[in-house]
Amino acid sequence: MTSPTADPSMAAIGKSQPRVDGPLKVTGSAKYTSDHGFPGMLYAVPVGATVASGTIEAIDTARARQMPGVRAIFKRGDLGKISPITPDFASMYTDEPRPPLDDDVVRYWGQYVALAVADTFEQAKAAADAVAVTYKAEVANVDHHLGADAPNVVSERGDADAGFAGAPVTIDVTYAIATETHNPIETHASIAVPEGDMLTLYETSQGVVNHRNVVAEMLGLPRDKVRVVSKFLGSGFGSKLFPWSHSPLAGAAALSLKMPVKLVLSRPMMFHSVGHRPRTEQRIRIGATAEGKLVSLRHDYVNATSILDDYVENCGEATPHMYSVPNLRVTSGLAKRNIGTPTSMRGPGAVPGLFALEAAMDELALKLGIDPVELRMRNEPAVDEGTGLPFTSRHFQECMTIGAQRFGWAGRDAKVGAMRRGGLTLGWGMAACSWLAARFDCSASIELRDDGTVRVASAVQDIGTGTYTAMAQMAAELAGVEVEKVEVALGDTDLPAGPVSGGSMLTSSLVKPITDAVAVAGQKLISKLAASKSSPFGGAKPADLKFSGGRLTGGGAGSASLRFDEALRAAGLKSVSGEGSAEGTFPPKQQPEFSSHSFGAHFVEVTWQPEVARLRVTRMVSVIDAGRIINPLAARNQIEGALVMGIGMALFEGTEYDPQNGAPMNASLADYVVPVNADVPALEVHFIEYPDFEQNPLGARGVGEIGLAGTAAAITNAVHHATGTRCRELPLRIEQLL
Ligand code: MOS
Repeated sequence: MTSPTADPSMAAIGKSQPRVDGPLKVTGSAKYTSDHGFPGMLYAVPVGATVASGTIEAIDTARARQMPGVRAIFKRGDLGKISPITPDFASMYTDEPRPPLDDDVVRYWGQYVALAVADTFEQAKAAADAVAVTYKAEVANVDHHLGADAPNVVSERGDADAGFAGAPVTIDVTYAIATETHNPIETHASIAVPEGDMLTLYETSQGVVNHRNVVAEMLGLPRDKVRVVSKFLGSGFGSKLFPWSHSPLAGAAALSLKMPVKLVLSRPMMFHSVGHRPRTEQRIRIGATAEGKLVSLRHDYVNATSILDDYVENCGEATPHMYSVPNLRVTSGLAKRNIGTPTSMRGPGAVPGLFALEAAMDELALKLGIDPVELRMRNEPAVDEGTGLPFTSRHFQECMTIGAQRFGWAGRDAKVGAMRRGGLTLGWGMAACSWLAARFDCSASIELRDDGTVRVASAVQDIGTGTYTAMAQMAAELAGVEVEKVEVALGDTDLPAGPVSGGSMLTSSLVKPITDAVAVAGQKLISKLAASKSSPFGGAKPADLKFSGGRLTGGGAGSASLRFDEALRAAGLKSVSGEGSAEGTFPPKQQPEFSSHSFGAHFVEVTWQPEVARLRVTRMVSVIDAGRIINPLAARNQIEGALVMGIGMALFEGTEYDPQNGAPMNASLADYVVPVNADVPALEVHFIEYPDFEQNPLGARGVGEIGLAGTAAAITNAVHHATGTRCRELPLRIEQLL
């Protein structure tokens, strides 16, 4: 990859900074949630339903209760009241607000019906297995045909039907994407520790403050009596954004037994009750002129959701702003299934949506005989035509131009199967990507110390993406110290309130609070120094002093300049601190003035060996326009990880539900196939940097999810170019190519 052009006036921002928490992780001293232990800690193992639809007739715990080490077997009614919540994104949110053990109805396979607690994990597991549950089973509906009922209008302009009917060239195609299950290597875990009237939860959480609010409400505790800690996360991909019912279950068990309780989900449980990207079916209709100008675009989609919850996979998120088209209609619908509640999975909405849209654009390009890059160039909008708002910054055409150059796209022979290398058929495909850019409400604090070190803190999380490092870079830049001098505190509700690590929005959300916190601390330093007769600034008017880059300058003599640690020592102070907070733009509190998105383009090469039906992804080039890049090393890593997920989405991933009983059949890492190193080629990631100051004072939009958007389409477009087979259902199966 090429590093973006770093701003020479900045010392820490824009530099490829290895992770500040890296040494802790590689030496094994980083404590992940399930690494915590407490005196007297008990182990809890949930009992999951073995039907996907029905009613619990009886739960016989007699045998389990007699087993060695068993402290309790909880079933409905045994655990005190766990209350449902009303999800509200600004205050407390979960995709599955039904409390655990709330009634005797089973709505999906693996739904918790009881909880075994014992002295050891093995005893708890044995006891959970010995709980005998009888069900009145009903036929579970896990039908993967979702139907076409998409009644909700998401976006509309002009007359899409008339535009389509009158268009000289049309395509009408339907795409489906299998259910995908998040598989962070660290499974979900909760350790609930009651102490006096406090309950501390060690959690695998992408959002400690929201988690605290949800669990406090469910357990009927004041928020200030619940603390949530999540210092290191073995990733989440969205599955850990919001609490799932095992967490209040662990909390309620700990309160009931007055002992610490640890509950760690097994890998199969990860497929039952902690979310997934639901199956989607999307129909795209495009009408165009013979010259390739779009005249009509329809995008109608349906996603599967659970029986109780209306989770919407917002596939049409990017459709209204991606291309210029006068007539557009985007609609959505839901199909209820006996499957656990879906949730956000990396790039929710736009990722499945852009698979369909970008595959359809490729189909249209082929039909028109226009190069796929050129077709997109011809439909570049001047503004976001979905909202009529100007873009804060959109350099999509430049992404395509640079990507095409780096990939060598000009050498492409558009004829299917015409390109060959070393006895293999080559396929070259490309696709666009887009992801929203926004900020959450966020606050942070800073402490400047007399030994030249700095502490920056916020109740946010580092889910493996590099938040510790980005916060250290921001504090280092603003305080004028090396990154090594910064201590970062996060992942604890005792710190200033911060948002979820989600939507690729956290880095952007942190910029202004940290900037303001440093400025507040600087002002305090100015007041102290001006008031201190013995300091070099003694007697100066505070208004004549300036704090910038960690230095205090100005004053009567006009030439004094002290770094904050020198200034603190001069004033006889150990430290000075400040807090900052900033309002977010997501969800929007007022009518936005701009359309705010990142953009990019992916170029993919596959090789196809028809004699042995061997398909490989051999090259990927991605160019991403995401504003200023704070840490090119971590940002590249984010996009690379997303590209790997794109290979998984296109070629491997899919959760299969048994039509007989509704159980996920491939609920293990052996059977749920994800890409391994041998499946992943060299990845070339390039950032183009146009700082976007509508976002924050650094102009950073945040990266992560955008790398997965469009990637599966670029791959299947390349597969078509190599083989002539159009894959409209993910994952692609080799049978389709035979
Ligand atoms: Mo991401 S799906 O916002 O964790």
